[in-house]
Parts: sequence; structure tokens; C-alpha cells
Amino acid sequence: MARPTILLLSCLSLLAMATPAAVLAADADPILDFCVADLSKTDLFINGLPCKNPATVTSGDFKSMAFRGVGNTSNPLGIAIGFAAAGANFPALNTQGLTLVKIEYASTGGFVPPHVHPRASEVILVLEGAVLVGFVDTSNKYYSATLYAGDLFVFPRGLLHFQLSLNSSYPALSFSSLNSQNPGLSLIGPALFASTPGIPSIVLQKSFAIDDAQVKAIKMAFGGK
Ligand SMILES: *[C@@H]1O[C@H](CO)[C@@H](O)[C@H](O)[C@H]1NC(C)=O
Ligand SMILES: *[C@@H]1O[C@H](CO)[C@@H](O)[C@H](O)[C@H]1NC(C)=O
Repeated sequence: MARPTILLLSCLSLLAMATPAAVLAADADPILDFCVADLSKTDLFINGLPCKNPATVTSGDFKSMAFRGVGNTSNPLGIAIGFAAAGANFPALNTQGLTLVKIEYASTGGFVPPHVHPRASEVILVLEGAVLVGFVDTSNKYYSATLYAGDLFVFPRGLLHFQLSLNSSYPALSFSSLNSQNPGLSLIGPALFASTPGIPSIVLQKSFAIDDAQVKAIKMAFGGK
């Protein structure tokens, strides 16, 4: 290796030691004013979504009516989830590092089961009712609060969390903002007991100190095989 190269390498490593590592708290910064997603280009795979020609972008592209209307909470979890996301129904969010979620909770224990978002922190705002929220950090410490109208709570990125409506005579409503255009969602119960193909029973028996019959019963509850 030539001497100048060695010099350059040592300079670079000194620089690396002296400079605090860049921390990206959300998706990468956009390098254009906007990049309204062109959802028709389904065979193009990039980190984000391809942009519409800016000349064809209009005010309407930046508006969404995704949260209009009332959801139906008559389901086993007692929740109705609405979302505004770049890849699904709000292409203007492409490259903006944002996804928004609206959750309506039935008064009888509307429940968002334990889950993680691998790529986003979440701030939840409760606008109606009472919602018990909680998350567990990587040392298994549990953090929790009961939120009433006007209260906010943070679920740090990637940590296990849940929401449960507490007021049995009044439905709840919350909105969340997540700092990724594709936060990802992994529901712990279905991930473990209803994956495709299924995780072998012996693995689940050892993981939870349960027997095969109990694994089968839990798999059945989650619709797994
Ligand atoms: C809500 O969902 C339930 C279960 O799918 C259905 O029976 C009911 O008709 C729905 N209600 C409305 C108002 O759509
Ligand atoms: C449930 O919500 C209603 C309406 O906000 C309120 O009047 C009532 O006190 C709440 N009940 C409980 C147990 O928090």
C-alpha cells in the first residue's frame, strides 16, 4: 500500500474517532422539495417510492381525507384503525419520514395488542376517553400511564407497546404520529403463534415453558397452524 494511502487512512480513522457518529432519528432526509409517490411504478424497487413528475403535482396531492368518517369497532379487538401512509393512501408522505394513525376504541375494552414498529418512534395523542398505554424497554422495565383527552405519550422506536381503552362507558379515540414513512408493524402474538409456516411447537414450548397442547390452544386462538 502506497504511503499517501496509509496517511489518508490514518487521517480518516482519526476523524472517525473525533467526530460523533451521525444519528438519524428518522428516515433519511429528502433531497427534493417533495417526492409525491407514483404508486403506479410497482416493478421499481428503491429505498422509498419513485416520485411523480413535479410538473404534474397539484395541491390535491398534499391533502388526504383518510381520517374522515367513523370506524367500526365491532370486532374481537374492539378497535378501528385508520392510517395515512405514503405507500398506501397518501403518496405525498413519500420521503417525509411520517406515518399517521387514527385508532377508535370500543368502550368495552378496545385493545391494540403488544406490538413493535421496527423503524419508528411513535407519539400518541388521546382525544377522547381513557387509554392505558405501556411499553417495555430492553432491560424489561415496564413504563405505563393512563391517558385522558389531551394527553401524549411516547413509544420509543422498536420497543414493545400496547394500548387498552379503560372507560367502560365511553369510547376512546387516539391519533399517533410515527417518524418513518414505513414504520413496520410486528404483532407479537401472531408473529409467534400464527406465522407462515408456523414456528415448530418445540420452539414455542421451550420459549414459554408450556406443553404442546398449550401451544396448539394458543395457535388456535391466533388462527395459526
Ligand atoms: C360493523 O361490523 C360488524 C362485524 O363485521 C357488522 O356486523 C356490522 O354490520 C358493522 N356495522 C356497521 C355500522 O357497518
Ligand atoms: C368515562 O367517560 C365519561 C365521559 O367523558 C366520564 O364522564 C366518566 O367519568 C368516565 N368514567 C371513568 C370511570 O373514567
